[in-house]
Amino acid sequence: MSKHYYIETFGCQMNKNDSELMEENLQRYGYVPAQAEKDADIVIFNTCSVRNHAENRALARIRQVKKRTGKIIAVAGCMAQRLGERLIAQGLADMVIGPYQSPIVGELIEIYISSGKRAFLSQNLRDFHHRLQNLLVQRNNASWHRWVTITHGCENFCAYCVVPYVRGRLISFSSRTIVEYVRTLAAQGAKEITLLGQNVNQFGHDSGDIPFHSLLENVAKVPGIQKINFLTSHPKDFRRETLEVIRDNPNISRAIHLPLQSGSNDILRAMNRQYTIEHYYRLIEEMEHILGDYAISTDLIVGFPGESRADFEKTIEAVRRICFDDAFTYAYSPREGTAAYAMAETISKEEKSARLNELIAVQREISRMKLQKRINRNENALVEAMSKKSQKEVMGKTFLNHPVVLPGGRDDIGQFVRVKILKVVGNTLYAERIA
Ligand code: SAM
Ligand code: SF4
Ligand code: F3S
Repeated sequence: MSKHYYIETFGCQMNKNDSELMEENLQRYGYVPAQAEKDADIVIFNTCSVRNHAENRALARIRQVKKRTGKIIAVAGCMAQRLGERLIAQGLADMVIGPYQSPIVGELIEIYISSGKRAFLSQNLRDFHHRLQNLLVQRNNASWHRWVTITHGCENFCAYCVVPYVRGRLISFSSRTIVEYVRTLAAQGAKEITLLGQNVNQFGHDSGDIPFHSLLENVAKVPGIQKINFLTSHPKDFRRETLEVIRDNPNISRAIHLPLQSGSNDILRAMNRQYTIEHYYRLIEEMEHILGDYAISTDLIVGFPGESRADFEKTIEAVRRICFDDAFTYAYSPREGTAAYAMAETISKEEKSARLNELIAVQREISRMKLQKRINRNENALVEAMSKKSQKEVMGKTFLNHPVVLPGGRDDIGQFVRVKILKVVGNTLYAERIA
């Protein structure tokens, strides 16, 4: 009888990509997907540790599911790596699988069933080769969008961040393998890809491979790939050449995600970000100059230890000056083992959330103003899904990755459509189709 699996994914795009790898591996081992967690024999939680809230959400779900007997509960990903055998000891997981080994989850489940071994948390390079091999596996996934991980891990050690501890050191995949893989995806019908890494601009720093902008250029030349996104960039390593490659290749998205974190140089230094706000402003000027029409989004943290009201106001000032299209805003969450964990928090919980709300309100107005500026423009939209509200409308993203709703049907999904922007409702553009 076939065994059913169900995967629940938390956290960033890396984890989404890892869940796809796990699915492929499970299916190779004869497992079939369950429609819902209640119908599964094996439930896998692919977890995130970046903030306390992310862990608590996953733990609450795991407790809920664990109560139902007879299922194998596997906790994979970053929280598995961080809390490891504690999850087994607390009766929350039957097995734990760290990010190095999650792509071979099918094999690990067999090992668990036959030998009872429960913890797979190695950060030894020997156990990483499954990921390298995975890139070469011929897939049969006809999706028009695919994730392409180009680096794994991170060595930047931003003072607040747990990622280097749970994901391990920077490992770049080989540029030749990546380009070959993108060719395979294009042959399978992929039109849009997203290159993934914690700091894509560091690609090749560990291996001596070509720099990121050359990789981007090589990927852009693969026939059939019509839109290329890349996440995440780091201001300290972002090079002018990357902007020139974007300018010269119309299939690279002009939506750049460049986390600023704080507008105060004192806080940026305490965070170990290794750039100043002036450097960031210079990068924005270069984007204006080289790209002209582009979108910029960012990540911001409020309430980092030592952040004064004046520091916070510098973040607000930067947000007003740069006019981000979008910002992911977070309240600082202390993570055990990081450098900032030893620093005393200097503001109350209430003050932290008051600052967060103030920042969100400022950004919301700016996001809306940026969307209003798109009205009457002609854009290329990639249709992603049916609209949730109407059977006669579809939703997707413009080339600047703004959300857009337009008339259409199921056949448009995965297609590029020429549209004219008519209006903004909430944080969504509404458009009509043009020839
Ligand atoms: N590698 C990317 C970078 O350098 O920005 C993304 C890292 S993390 C997965 C995504 C975002 O979470 C970060 O940019 C940061 O704003 C936020 N973050 C990370 N650790 C945090 C913490 N301890 N508390 C609050 N926010 C945090
Ligand atoms: Fe974390 Fe900094 Fe690495 Fe991003 S660059 S993953 S914020 S340590
Ligand atoms: Fe991503 Fe969370 Fe891990 S943000 S890298 S899943 S800690």
